[in-house]
Amino acid sequence: METVVSGIRSTGNLHLGNYFGALRNFIKMQHENRCFFFIADYHSLTTHPDPKLLHHNVRQVLSEYLAAGLDPEASTIFVQSDVPEVTELYLLLNMHAYVGELEKTTSFKDKIRQQKNNVNAGLLTYPTLMAADILLHKANKVPVGKDQEQHLEMTRNFAKRFNSLYSVDYFPEPTAYNFGSELVKIPGLDGSGKMGKSEGNGLYLFDEPAVIRKKVMKAVTDQGPTEPNSVKHEAVENLFTILKVVSTPDTVAYFEEKHNNCEIRYGDLKKQLAEDIIAVTEPIRERIFDIQNDAEYLHKVVNMGAEKARESASKTVAEVREIMGFKKF
Ligand code: TRP
Repeated sequence: METVVSGIRSTGNLHLGNYFGALRNFIKMQHENRCFFFIADYHSLTTHPDPKLLHHNVRQVLSEYLAAGLDPEASTIFVQSDVPEVTELYLLLNMHAYVGELEKTTSFKDKIRQQKNNVNAGLLTYPTLMAADILLHKANKVPVGKDQEQHLEMTRNFAKRFNSLYSVDYFPEPTAYNFGSELVKIPGLDGSGKMGKSEGNGLYLFDEPAVIRKKVMKAVTDQGPTEPNSVKHEAVENLFTILKVVSTPDTVAYFEEKHNNCEIRYGDLKKQLAEDIIAVTEPIRERIFDIQNDAEYLHKVVNMGAEKARESASKTVAEVREIMGFKKF
């Protein structure tokens, strides 16, 4: 049993790539590990979100994750800003985080190019806050993608530095939770590359069936195979990749055969694909609406999560204070 911490960005709707990527693994791992999942709303402040939207975004993201299957009984699901202990650990860790190393972080260098007029100290210390999120629960595993590996490495450095400075063996050095072959990469429908929000090619769990049908029917294909058993064009391969995760093996085999003997009609493939995607997304979409409108349920989930998270957080902060030499009069 590992202790797992994962921060979820507080904006953006879930798309099929998220769902069949990390999310399905989260859903599985929450029953085998001690998991903490939180909506990273403090982190979002580095871009100065509109106060009128902040809560709405957190609520939306939370509803979608719950609808997709994160289980508040099996894991600890909370909102970052409901656990103020993280801000204290962040402050303490910042005393051992060097400006030089923070300035060298790839994500910081990217951000200062993107938001030249708002190079705030929160951006610089983003990795310390992320380290505080992780170390607060003494996690040893963090499910992160490539883009977060540097932040995780910095977390290990902060943990090691703290341990060695105070001659303790206190913080574990967390490593990436590797899903291995379980991690399916969902491509976009525009011919190449992966599905993503910034790519503008997302099929969202939140999309109505008519929207999904429309997006799938517009997917890029080729002229059709001209020789039996020919290799599929990348765009066509992408449709099959999605078909494999949403359809039955029989359906996949049927269209494979049609492609192999050059009888495939992409219109038929797309129609089937759209319906099978809808079969996955529609129940989730309905649950998103139900949960969003159930203020009482959301209130209960968030409070329960905050309580569980604060229990572990306050223990860590008390121990860290003691190690650093704070004493009560
Ligand atoms: N930085 C992460 C991202 O952009 C989100 C995040 C914040 C996180 N704190 C974390 C992820 C702690 C894992 C652990 O996706």
